[in-house]
Amino acid sequence: MPAHVIVGAQWGDEGKGRVADWFAKDADIVARYAGGDNAGHTVRVGNDTFKLHLVPSGVLYGSTINIMGNGMVVNPLKLVDELRGLDERGIDIDPVRIRLSRRAHLITPAHIALDGAREAQRGSGKIGTTKRGIGPAYTDKAARSGLRTGLMEHPERFAPALREHFNRKNRQLEALYNAEPIAVDQSIDVLVEAADYLAPFLADVDFELYEALRAGKSVLCEGAQGTLLDIDHGNYPYVTSSSATAGGALTGLGIGPQWVDRITGVTKAYTTRVGAGPFPTELDDERGDRLRGTGANPWDEYGTTTGRPRRCGWLDAVVLRYAARINGLTDLVVTKLDILSGFDEIEIADEYTHHGEPLAVFPSEADTLDRVEPITLSMPGWQEDIMSVTTLADLPQAARDYIDKIADLSGVPVSLATVGPARHQSIPIAD
Ligand code: GDP
Ligand code: IMO
Ligand code: MG
Repeated sequence: MPAHVIVGAQWGDEGKGRVADWFAKDADIVARYAGGDNAGHTVRVGNDTFKLHLVPSGVLYGSTINIMGNGMVVNPLKLVDELRGLDERGIDIDPVRIRLSRRAHLITPAHIALDGAREAQRGSGKIGTTKRGIGPAYTDKAARSGLRTGLMEHPERFAPALREHFNRKNRQLEALYNAEPIAVDQSIDVLVEAADYLAPFLADVDFELYEALRAGKSVLCEGAQGTLLDIDHGNYPYVTSSSATAGGALTGLGIGPQWVDRITGVTKAYTTRVGAGPFPTELDDERGDRLRGTGANPWDEYGTTTGRPRRCGWLDAVVLRYAARINGLTDLVVTKLDILSGFDEIEIADEYTHHGEPLAVFPSEADTLDRVEPITLSMPGWQEDIMSVTTLADLPQAARDYIDKIADLSGVPVSLATVGPARHQSIPIAD
């Protein structure tokens, strides 16, 4: 298989990390194509839980090469911490198997300060960003004033470029936001030290991917965030700043479309969202609380990156059909089916109305999405604990019917369902 794209079909946190880990066992290369350390991908291996923010999930398989693509924004201090943390836990982080594009963009402490200052200025209209500096770093990229990862190989140019960057950003922070300036010398010192650590990981990853694909190697493209957080196709402005959809896998890695033969959308069996913005099927009642959990279980709905409680609601097939169209999904993975055990009835939104009229096309305006009325259908739930089920035949009939309904409403076959965070808690579904 040449390139297989894994993409979030909702608002992020669908379980992409564990799904990428599942498919990584058959991949030669795992490549992240978008976002930065706003992502938090949880992978359980045996009794160990890994929360990956920048490094692709394939790192947990010894034989895999792991690529961070040009579509990413990378905070060098966070990447050093993540690599050191993996090293301490016995994961092989040799630069031979961990490759960072020279064309990715850097996140600095000034981007983080600007992220916080811009959110404060937005007041009640805030996006609820992860405050990791994502938006300001992508802003600089688009404005052609960004700092690229490749600079880290050239200390004689890196330090002056950083000084110029901090001076410019400090003027913005002080004049536009009345915010504290960044300590320039100290910030340069730590970034230059991080650059020294990271330089051996830098590579022309687009070339390496091309050579690998031509040699018949298989590449798993690991998405971050989700379709509804995509800068173009998400519900703007309540989005992140990267191309989180399948098209982003091509531009974010520098590979041509002819290599891609599978595009797997990952969806939870229900819906969650962190941060602000419209959410048609959100449940503000005890059913939403039940989906969220109390925080007692590691999989309860509290953010991997920020710890914020996630907003929860029913599955939204209108969103899934939109994700299927925008990404060209070939199949769906349904995660966290176990969380629905114990509901008498489960609902799925199948249509939106707006001012009483059915909407034919997924709305482009956040304001419209905020005002739609979801029309839901109801299905009987199941009471059994399904966390130890490993075959479709052993799932309660109501759970099998629910999976069939998801395929039916989304128009995309379901290839895998998961019933717990561990590798073995996965149920392959033959079509
Ligand atoms: P990602 O950002 O898409 O990789 O998803 P996150 O890791 O942020 O959030 C998914 C959470 O659900 C993590 O805590 C996972 O360990 C957990 N998880 C994934 N699949 C399942 C599942 O099938 N059942 C349960 N109970 N937890 C799961
Ligand atoms: P993974 O890869 C869920 C959300 C933030 C906020 C918006 C913009 O783990 O699925 P940003 O910091 O990117 O400028 O924030 O996007 N967001 C995510 N939500 N999962 C993520 O990543 C997210 N990355 C960003 O909560 O609403
Ligand atoms: Mg996450």
